[in-house]
Amino acid sequence: MTRKILVTSALPYANGAIHLGHLVEYIQTDVWVRFQKMRGNECWYVCADDTHGTPIMLRAEKEGLKPEELIARVYGEHTRDFAGFHVEFDNYYSTHSDETRFYSEDIYGKLKAAGLIEVRSIEQFYDPVKQMFLPDRFIKGECPKCGAKDQYGDSCEVCGAAYAPTELKNPYSAVSGATPELRSSDHYFFKLSDAKCQAFLREWTQQGSHVPPEAANKLQEWIGQAGENKLTDWDISRDAPYFGFEIPGENGERNTGKYFYVWLDAPIGYMGSFRNLCGKKGMNFDDWWSKDSKAELYHFIGKDILYFHALFWPAELEHSGYRTPTGVLPHGFLTVDGAKMSKSRGTFITAESYLKEGLNPEWLRYYFAAKLNGTMEDIDLNLADFVGRVNSDLVGKYVNIASRCAGFLTKFFDGKLVFGSGRALPAGSVSTGELVASHFEARNYSQALREIMALADRINGEIAVAEPWKLAKDESKRAELHDVCSRALHGFYVLSILLRPVLPALTSRVARELFGMERDFAWADLGVLPTRVNAYQHLMQRIESKQVEALIMANKESLAPAPEAHSQQRHAEHQQAEAQAEKLAAAHISIDDFAKVDLRIARIANAEHVEGAAKLLKLTLDLGTETRTVFAGIKSAYDPATLVGRLTVMVANLAPRKMKFGLSEGMVLAASDPDGKTAGLFLLSPDSGAAPGMQVK
Ligand code: MSP
Ligand code: ZN
Repeated sequence: MTRKILVTSALPYANGAIHLGHLVEYIQTDVWVRFQKMRGNECWYVCADDTHGTPIMLRAEKEGLKPEELIARVYGEHTRDFAGFHVEFDNYYSTHSDETRFYSEDIYGKLKAAGLIEVRSIEQFYDPVKQMFLPDRFIKGECPKCGAKDQYGDSCEVCGAAYAPTELKNPYSAVSGATPELRSSDHYFFKLSDAKCQAFLREWTQQGSHVPPEAANKLQEWIGQAGENKLTDWDISRDAPYFGFEIPGENGERNTGKYFYVWLDAPIGYMGSFRNLCGKKGMNFDDWWSKDSKAELYHFIGKDILYFHALFWPAELEHSGYRTPTGVLPHGFLTVDGAKMSKSRGTFITAESYLKEGLNPEWLRYYFAAKLNGTMEDIDLNLADFVGRVNSDLVGKYVNIASRCAGFLTKFFDGKLVFGSGRALPAGSVSTGELVASHFEARNYSQALREIMALADRINGEIAVAEPWKLAKDESKRAELHDVCSRALHGFYVLSILLRPVLPALTSRVARELFGMERDFAWADLGVLPTRVNAYQHLMQRIESKQVEALIMANKESLAPAPEAHSQQRHAEHQQAEAQAEKLAAAHISIDDFAKVDLRIARIANAEHVEGAAKLLKLTLDLGTETRTVFAGIKSAYDPATLVGRLTVMVANLAPRKMKFGLSEGMVLAASDPDGKTAGLFLLSPDSGAAPGMQVK
């Protein structure tokens, strides 16, 4: 029975470039959609740019553009990048569209009619210079908990505390630098605290497998037990100036000066994009979105936006008379070499730079797929492993089969495959196919690829034993050679079918160029024996480590902080400080000079000897939010085993230095006499109570 499946990926914001973190999601979704289509299901994949909100409005202003101009440019960049990675949407649209406006007003109107919208006056920070209310992220100040400077209005990056922007000490507007004022304004709330919303969400999140178990647990914490009423009402409006849809007034008039908050219309953008597709394909929207729809609806998302997709969104749909999602499927975050992507380290890699540097997009698709297992665990792009895995699996195991055996078939047998001895592969391939299919279906691509590579190993094993290159030298062994190579190429055909969701471009060439088909592979081709091959043409290059190094270099930004769009006020302060510093004698440094050194408490998570290094130990330092590798010249004074677990002080913003043994990303502090030998070396330690990541000042 063919299923009707509608699939979405989260809508990327229209103010930034697509990077490899995003691609974890779009590649993951694309693989699943391609798999469903190959199985013969009716599957549609829609997405759009998420175009509204304050950051996009301000970004456009900064670039001297109208928001409409900015989002049009970014649309071009995003669609180019997705196409470059073979992410094939059936429709890629924009939330700034008539369809999305229509469904936003429609859903809002229905929620209002259901008594789930309430207007309330709230106090909020207002920027008197810029004349706008400030979102939490645009207010900065000192953390109310630890006093760290320049923290955002919602949480502290130093101590991790979460708070309301009104709790910040010495707040200032990140837009103009002005001191914000509290002003009150009417806001519209979606009453998530309403008993019927709570009851619905408790049931929806815990029954019917709408989310994976680990996500269900998280949601249970947010919702709380029956009677706990942990869900609070959601503020869905913003005041002008705002780039978005104006909220219609009582009689549909558009002069309320209130706009839908971007997160209200963003998921509705899924409907907008699909409605637009329906127009192009002559499909019936209601078949997919009405309450009694039999179609399946899946949202692939990152774990950071689970709250929006598994609480707000189903509650909105349910109470405005639409169907709810079949599944909300969250994935983890991308790390590179075990750490958060970082611009200074060059690991904040854009999709564009990856393609520009000439790396093959299917290498990354394969690597991500090999790591994705359908859970919310973070996935790590380990650069050395990336090179190793792609070269060994794709080039060494998969492509190798065809490159070794196809030539003999065309040279001696006119490309014909024979399975005279009855030793063709099919029995095993169809059952492997079903196993692999079940893993793809469950989004456990890593397991699917393990099965596929195990099959590749068996095929390569047979080739190694049969040694066709030796058989080819012996005229009397033609039949045997024909048999061995036919089996190998049948194996290659099976592998290519199974790999198609992950490697769409490569396997398309295999189907068309090598096997002479006029279409791409379908899953059902597993049951059909190929009959002939054309001359083998080179299929895939190995990755060179230096290509990855060049990619990192291309993404490296200097450590100098980017000049921020700050106020005259902060600018003035800055100049004052500079003038003051100049007056000081050369022997002194100003407090600002000292403040340039970012000293942090670090926990030595690991310490080890470095082969071939006389003085160095390799330390892995835990900074609370990230880890760093540092090569420290303290081997003469410390046994690595005694260092593990202890706290010390590190310079966290030292420019990374490439050493013979690897990249050193900082420095630990130790006391010594001038020559560093006579009295020995003494690592600094903080008093007890200090924690990794704390600032030393
Ligand atoms: N615009 C919102 C989504 C609205 S959906 C109705 C948004 N945009 S985003 O550009 O920040 O992120 C888009 C998707 O990419 C999200 O699912 C997000 O989790 C995912 N990722 C962004 N950075 C990521 C990583 N570093 N790693 C993995 N996924 C990441 O959120
Ligand atoms: Zn803090």
